[in-house]
Amino acid sequence: MRLKGKSALITGSARGIGKAFAEAYVREGATVAIADINLEAAEKTASEIGKNAYAVRLDVADLSSIEAAVKAVEARTGGLDILINNAALFDLAPIVEITRASYEKLFSVNVAGTLFMLQAASRSMIASGKGGKIINMASQAGRRGEPLVAVYCATKAAVISLTQSAGLALIRHRINVNGIAPGVVESDMWDEVDALFARYENRPKGEKRRLVGEGVPYGRMGRPEDLTGMAVFLASEDADYIVAQTYNVDGGQWMS
Ligand SMILES: NC(=O)c1ccc[n+]([C@@H]2O[C@H](COP(=O)([O-])OP(=O)(O)OC[C@H]3O[C@@H](n4cnc5c(N)ncnc54)[C@H](O)[C@@H]3O)[C@@H](O)[C@H]2O)c1
Repeated sequence: MRLKGKSALITGSARGIGKAFAEAYVREGATVAIADINLEAAEKTASEIGKNAYAVRLDVADLSSIEAAVKAVEARTGGLDILINNAALFDLAPIVEITRASYEKLFSVNVAGTLFMLQAASRSMIASGKGGKIINMASQAGRRGEPLVAVYCATKAAVISLTQSAGLALIRHRINVNGIAPGVVESDMWDEVDALFARYENRPKGEKRRLVGEGVPYGRMGRPEDLTGMAVFLASEDADYIVAQTYNVDGGQWMS
């Protein structure tokens, strides 16, 4: 067990990739806060995973909610060792149709949410004197722009940049900040993504999903379980000397 006795908080882990991370962390011996804006779904996920998972209501766009969630984790487990900044929203629109509301919603969850969660977690880790591990979920979307996906791509580029700055700033406290950049991953999020592409690219439903899967060098879309090995590794002692990096786990989509 590579995370035995560790206390982890995973944002947006009621479903999808975050849920797979929580399952993997519990298998490796951690206790995991399923921290999600959807408390009912978080409670269901926690009860499915078992006694080493528990639900916490968290809105990463709200500073007081972030503070309360970190306090709840400290009260329950005595400290916080691992944070995965996983919660994010997706949207797309042609450049000339992007709304201020969509821009603000995505930046407040994907960027401000990542920064201020990371800040609250690192304060807790610094106070404990034990260091910790922080993993930010980026995306291949953060490596380059896409004509219809400007705002989401910009948020994920910002996540890669924040990972670099925070990684450099926090390693002296023995807090490793690193990121994972998936390509395309089967999840509920992709139902929304496919529906949006169908609308703006005038495609039948499901076609975009099929085409992106066929375009992955590995030969299919990713599955949440394809990402868990990297998430466990980056949270483990084996990654102590890894600082401020973002790793592509994407079936060969992107090389950098
Ligand atoms: N699915 C993909 O193809 C893909 C590709 C690259 C990167 N990613 C990234 O991986 C991560 C997980 O993606 P997913 O596909 O599992 O997403 P998802 O939409 O299936 O799940 C996101 C979870 O975040 C929660 N959430 C939303 N807003 C929140 C908020 N304000 N506070 C707390 N929780 C909130 C939702 O309730 C949900 O449980 C995201 O950061 C996403 O950008 C996904």
